[in-house]
Order: sequence, then C-alpha cells, then structure tokens
Amino acid sequence: MPDFAPRSPAFLADPYPAYAELRARGRAHYYEPSDQWLVPHHADVSALLRERRLGRSYGHRFTHEEFGRTPPDPGHEPFHELNDQGMLELEPPDHTRIRRLVSKAFTPRTVEQLQPYVRRLATELVARLVEEGGGDLLTAVAEPLPVAVIAEMLGVPETDRPLLRPWSAAICGMYELNPSEETARHAVTASAEFSAYLRELIAARRATPGGDLISGLIAAHDEGERLTEAEMVATCALLLNAGHEATVNATVNGWHALFRHPAQLAALRADRALLPTAVEELMRYDTPLQLFERWVLDPVDIGGTTIPRGAEVALLFGSANHDPAVFAAPDALDLARRDNPHISFSAGIHYCIGAPLARIELAASMAALLDLAPALRPAGEPVRKPNFVIRGLEGLPVAV
Ligand code: HEM
Repeated sequence: MPDFAPRSPAFLADPYPAYAELRARGRAHYYEPSDQWLVPHHADVSALLRERRLGRSYGHRFTHEEFGRTPPDPGHEPFHELNDQGMLELEPPDHTRIRRLVSKAFTPRTVEQLQPYVRRLATELVARLVEEGGGDLLTAVAEPLPVAVIAEMLGVPETDRPLLRPWSAAICGMYELNPSEETARHAVTASAEFSAYLRELIAARRATPGGDLISGLIAAHDEGERLTEAEMVATCALLLNAGHEATVNATVNGWHALFRHPAQLAALRADRALLPTAVEELMRYDTPLQLFERWVLDPVDIGGTTIPRGAEVALLFGSANHDPAVFAAPDALDLARRDNPHISFSAGIHYCIGAPLARIELAASMAALLDLAPALRPAGEPVRKPNFVIRGLEGLPVAV
C-alpha cells in the first residue's frame, strides 16, 4: 500500500489522493503496520458505524485472551482507567445509561440557549485579534472559544482552563496509529493528573453544587442513576477533551481551506446565507477526525472479504467524505453544497453528542471573523501537525 503512509509528510499534507487509490482498489484492505482493515468507501463506513457486530470495545463480551489480544500494559493503567470508562469506549448497556444522562445537556434546544454566549465570546476574541493587527488564529480564536464553552458548561474555573489543552493533547496522542512508548508515557502522566484534578473538582461541586453539568451528574449519581465515581471522572474528561479538540482543528483546517480557495471565500463574504452549508462543507472537505476504529465482535463481510472476530477495522472518515459515489466533484470545495451527508460526526450509537454545539461554535467564530475581519488573510504558510487521525495545524498565522 505505497500511498497510504500515515507518517509521511506528503500524505499528511494531502491524504485524499491516497484514499482515492484505496477506494479504487477495493473495499477492505489489510494494513499490516497497524494490524487493521482499512475501510475507505462511504457506504461501508456508514453501514459499519451502525453495525452491532462491531464495537468500540470488546470487554463486555470477551476477555483479552478469548479475543486473541494481549492485555494493555499495566504501566498504562491511569490512561485506561480514564479513557476506557468514557462513553465513547463503552457499549450498551453501559453506553446507553451514561449517554442518556449526558445527552440532556446537549439537546439542540439546550445548546440553542448557549448561542448568545457563544456568539458574544466569539466576537470578543475576534475583536481582540483585530485590535492586535492579526496573530495566530489558532491561539487567538480557534482554541479559546471551544475550551471556554465546554469548561463553562462543566463548571471548570477560568484559572484552571489553561491546563485542559496540554492534558487533552497528551491523551489524544494515544488515538494515533501505533503510539510510541513516549507518547504513552505522556498520556499516562496527563491522565493521572487530569483524574486527580477532576476528582477534586467533583468533590468541590458535591460540597457546593452549581448550575453546571458536573453538579447535574452528581445529582443524578446521588439519586441512584448508577454512575460510578470512575465513570463520572471519565465522562468529564471525555466531554472536556472531545468538547474542544476537534472544534479547534475544524476551525483552523476550515480557514486554511478557505484561504486556498479565494473565490469561495469571496462568495461567502458576499453572501452570508452560505454560512450553514459552508460549515458542513468545510467539515467534509478537510475532515478533522480522519479515522475511527471498531473491534470485530462477530465476523462481518466487506465486499466479499470476511473479517474475522478479534480483528480491528479502521473506518476512514476522510476517505468516505471524498467518495465520488456520494459527493459530486468530491475534491472541490463548494460552500453551497446542499447534498452533503458527510460522516465527520460519525453515525450510529456513538454519533457525536456535541454536534449541535460544534456547529454553533464553528458558525459563531466564522461569522465573527467575516464581520470584524473582512480582509482576513494568511500571513505565512501554516505548519501541519504530524498527526494523522486528529488532523490539525500547529498554528494559522493571519493578518487582518
Ligand atoms: C467539529 C467538532 C467535532 C467533531 C468533528 C466531532 C466528531 C465526533 C465523532 C466522529 C465522534 C464518534 C466517534 C466514533 O464513532 O467512534 C464523536 C463522539 C463524541 N463527541 Fe464529538 N465532535 C466534535 C465536537 C464535539 C463537541 C463540541 C463535543 C462536546 C461535548 C463532543 C462530544 C463528543 C462525545 C461525548 C462523543 C462520544 C459519544 C458517544 O460515544 O456516544 N464532540 N465526536
């Protein structure tokens, strides 16, 4: 598989041609370096996300030995304790129970009520960027907006918020293909610190409840909703990390794409009614989360290839989002694209709980930048992060 090279700078700069080749060559490809089956077609990715013979985890049905897998390194325990009890790593019935509790805070109606706050924050951040005559869009807007919103929802005090990005970045390193031992060490340290921090925060909220989501989860727990302390910690960590990581990247990937398509950016500046389809198109065009994995709990057939129990499939979201079977001219950025069933928020039971919030945040920052920085333009070539799964930039220098 010469072109699928997740560590190569050329692939990271533009993985979409390699995906086209994978799609042309077949529907399931065994990829030896990560011992996974790569799935590049939209129809397969979409169907497999809804397939109950696959799971984010297998512990609810099999031991490691039964599943033919080696147990995780005991030295990585703090990472697994935090990660594996978050809803994203759970399957029903545990997943259903926790998702039901959390989803109350993320209904489109609840999130709608956050809109004025999100817009105000976006305006303040962009106004500051303009005052300063430009800077790094990532640190000035893309990062602080979603971090503040999710921290506010959970009741993380403002002074503690700078801790969240480094913890999240260290933990997210584990989601790349074949993380190194050094990445694991950083993730373990961050997980231990983050867990200790969250335990303290939960204890403080238990003593003095507020109107935040952590207080809500404590109340549910205390009313016998069967949320263990470890699950509560893992849920808070997941919400805080998932609640900003992809939004940060979607914002900078999106503006990077706009800068490289000046006619599309001009069309958006001229017609603000394009904003809703523009947000969706930018999420499709340069997919912020490129791959999600599933374990094969019972054999499945993909295009005539039987994938056995114990195998792992890697669903290529970025490829699915550029599949010409679903998207007309998939490699073109078309902010007016209406028929856009992109898969960037996943599908099935793990469909992104924060999708309505992410959409509001992306639209708010984009609107503020269009309004307050009408001449926003690149000020230098951005550096791409050396990550494949979580696709982003190290920064995005801009002039106003
Ligand atoms: C552009 C921004 C975002 C993108 C692209 C994104 C994408 C995703 C994807 C692809 C999944 C499912 C992964 C899978 O199927 O294995 C997911 C799950 C999740 N996301 Fe997001 N997300 C975004 C923003 C957010 C925000 C703002 C929150 C706020 C809380 C959030 C919270 C979650 C949670 C809690 C889950 C786990 C859901 C479950 O397992 O049932 N995400 N997200």
